Amino acid sequence: MKVLLTGGTGYIGSHTAVELIRAGYEVEILDNLANSKIEVLDRIFEIAGLKPKFHEVDLEDFSGVLGVLRNGEFDAVMHFAGLKAVGESVEKPLEYYEKNIGGTVNLLKAMKETEVRRLVFSSSATVYGDQKMPEKGLDETLVTGVGITNPYGWTKFMIEQVIRDFVKAEPEFSATILRYFNPIGADKSGLIGEDPNGIPNNLMPIVMKVYRGEIPALTVFGDDYSTRDGTCERDFIHVTDLAKGHVKALEKMRQGVAVYNLGSGKATSVKEIIAAFEEAAGEKLPVKYGERRAGDLAVLFANPEKAERELGWKTERGVKEAVRDTLRFLKNSQ
Ligand code: UD1
Repeated sequence: MKVLLTGGTGYIGSHTAVELIRAGYEVEILDNLANSKIEVLDRIFEIAGLKPKFHEVDLEDFSGVLGVLRNGEFDAVMHFAGLKAVGESVEKPLEYYEKNIGGTVNLLKAMKETEVRRLVFSSSATVYGDQKMPEKGLDETLVTGVGITNPYGWTKFMIEQVIRDFVKAEPEFSATILRYFNPIGADKSGLIGEDPNGIPNNLMPIVMKVYRGEIPALTVFGDDYSTRDGTCERDFIHVTDLAKGHVKALEKMRQGVAVYNLGSGKATSVKEIIAAFEEAAGEKLPVKYGERRAGDLAVLFANPEKAERELGWKTERGVKEAVRDTLRFLKNSQ
């Protein structure tokens, strides 16, 4: 089977490319390199033994996308490409709506025209908004779209709806929507990992920059939450587990639209992440405690039972392993 990965040189796309190749799939990548580097292709080759064919195309370029799909004879598309900086999305909402939603619409139009009928989409736990956390974690039956606090999150919510409407109108198409929790870690080779351009927004890339001395200290956003240790708790998932979830999703794809959470079901606090990092690195990180960040929820974790039941998938790697793998990537990329 042959799969096209949009955004395939990015963090999650590149790890999924590796796992797809390992599972015997043929992979091609379409990316505009806005937030990734072309060298990732050589790293994928080093890890998995095959270098994906690469198309430097922007999803806004409809004829470019159509050309790639027309020549490729793909069995499926995995759609990772998109802008993902929460803060930036508040500053530049139109760019986010145009690129994320417009790009997806172009992709679907091109898939329709070329009859590439299977799609896996990278969604986010952010679609669950600010609802009360159930004891067993957020599950896929819950209402989405209430209390989303930023345009990035809204684009994920809206794209899910675009996909549902499209598959309803074109029943020979099928789609799987994967809602990611908090991906961290790196391939165990240390050759690929999270390497965002510019100033990072997420916890682990900031921790990495603090460790390298590129940011003077980590500011923990709030330690007065009603949680175990006062800091926020999240469901951190090793990116290799996440990537393997995509392979399962493709294997098990059925008619219609299916939605799965990809998370571990466990909540780990910001303090616990810092402690795990310090233990693996063998040194203390400079840490400050600051105000709460607007829009943050105290606790967020998945109920991953549906993915286990229907895809036969669950996480196999813990936070400690993720932190060790992150450090290996950091040391390799210095
Ligand atoms: C964020 C987004 C979410 C998006 C996800 C992946 C918000 C509210 N949510 O999730 O929509 O899908 O990223 O891009 O922005 N933290 C610190 N100090 C820092 C950075 C983070 O204490 O310098 C804390 C945060 O307060 C949070 C935790 O670390 O409690 C995780 O933060 P982050 O990595 O940004 O992920 P989320 O906020 O969970």
